[in-house]
Amino acid sequence: MTIDRRQFLQSVTLGGFGLLAPGVQQLVAAAEMDSWFQNPLALPPLEEGRLIDGARRFDLALQYGVSNFLGDRPTPTVGINANYLGPVLRVQQGDDVMFRVTNRLSEPSTLHWHGLNLPAVMDGGPHQVIAPGKTWSSEYKIRQGACTQWYHSHMYHRTGIQVYFGLAGLFYIDDKDSKNLNLPSQYSVDDIPLVLQDRSFNQDGSLRYASSMHDRMMGMMGQTMLVNGTAFARFEAQKSLTRFRILNGSNARIYNLEFEDQREFLQIATDGGLLAQPVKMRSSILSPGERIEILVEFAPGESVMLRHKPLPRRPGGGGGMMGMMSGMMAANDRPFPIMRCDASRVTSAAQRFPTQLIKPRNWAYNEAVRTRRFNLNMGMGMGMGMGMGMGMGRGGFSINGKSMDIKRIDARVPLGDIEVWEISNTSPMAHPFHIHDVQFRIIERDGRPPGASEQGLKDTVLVNSGERVRLIMQFENYADAKAPYMFHCHILEHEDAGMMGQFVVVS
Ligand code: C2O
Ligand code: CU
Ligand code: CU
Repeated sequence: MTIDRRQFLQSVTLGGFGLLAPGVQQLVAAAEMDSWFQNPLALPPLEEGRLIDGARRFDLALQYGVSNFLGDRPTPTVGINANYLGPVLRVQQGDDVMFRVTNRLSEPSTLHWHGLNLPAVMDGGPHQVIAPGKTWSSEYKIRQGACTQWYHSHMYHRTGIQVYFGLAGLFYIDDKDSKNLNLPSQYSVDDIPLVLQDRSFNQDGSLRYASSMHDRMMGMMGQTMLVNGTAFARFEAQKSLTRFRILNGSNARIYNLEFEDQREFLQIATDGGLLAQPVKMRSSILSPGERIEILVEFAPGESVMLRHKPLPRRPGGGGGMMGMMSGMMAANDRPFPIMRCDASRVTSAAQRFPTQLIKPRNWAYNEAVRTRRFNLNMGMGMGMGMGMGMGMGRGGFSINGKSMDIKRIDARVPLGDIEVWEISNTSPMAHPFHIHDVQFRIIERDGRPPGASEQGLKDTVLVNSGERVRLIMQFENYADAKAPYMFHCHILEHEDAGMMGQFVVVS
């Protein structure tokens, strides 16, 4: 069976909307597809800013560009100081930072600092709109310890499309303690960013975004994997022990990452920083917005594929419409390759790595002064047909029965209080729930403590269909009764459609 690469890009799904094109992916044998992974992995430039009057200053421009993902057809994109995506911003704990963000696009946008504890007016959410041609200044102090955060557009109703076209980048924070741990930390040598995104293309090479009801309902899932903006990426390892900082920067797709030989790797960090000790893993589920850092060992000369394996089927999930929908989703979830890792240049044996890292912050359950409850729903009702023609408008996606209203404050949180947030998902699909300004800990999932790999600071948590997850957190440092932060589903089409709410921190 032969099929050329162009046809592949046009017709083959990587487990995406098999509902619309069942079985097409079987046209390509796995081994054949693997051989296409020859494009050198792009690494975004590292940007450390300029020190001006004691502050670390960055000048960032949101701009149009043209990218070459497909080899033979250019793709119009947007980026930050680049054609697609933005630089890796690197700052130190304790820094005063200043970002001057200029919007060179012809539509309004914003730039949000995902995972940061910062004043609400500096957050870059839907209230900090940057009009075309204007510059927005965001200044704050870096209070958190070492971690991998990110930044992206948060334009109300336009976040999905703006991120899809490229408005996102990574944001590293370093601190003194982590420097003493002897972790691989040489950027582009043994400390490698991996921004995972799935994209779909039209025949002319342009990006295809959310053209169907299915895309809007399930979230936009693409047919081609990009890693740091490279399709069919090949990573050439330089050191036997490599640290990957992995961001799920996709609009909607949930990955279950593993190496094709199911080798063990060590997870060292969650969204908000390092774990207490490395956790041995063979696969890891990463939902949109989440980050993990892992250490992987490559033997000299070997070559191994990083891939997605189908998500484990969850028991329960309910019968009826819920059961049917989750059944269909599981049936469409097929394995697919993401990036080839080649170690032909590696000569040395692995170096040693620490067995103890850093104690992530935690709070005792009895310190919490209140519990807030959030129910995620998709308000399915009339008009849902087998063809996935979900008859629902923007109002269908809700939290506590309410769709996002930029004029409504949903919660007022007293500064300094320790709170439990209980997130229940009564919809038929999983939603990654994200809270601005804070890093929380997961207390339990359906009454059970989280696995070791989730026992660290987080700002985004996947809440499965039918599940109830309890989180504990403390809102610190900044209060402003007028400027809200957001909480929302990080499936960007759901966020844009109203699965978002607003809270203020008050003193
Ligand atoms: Cu990553 Cu409110 O966003
Ligand atoms: Cu955020
Ligand atoms: Cu969602």
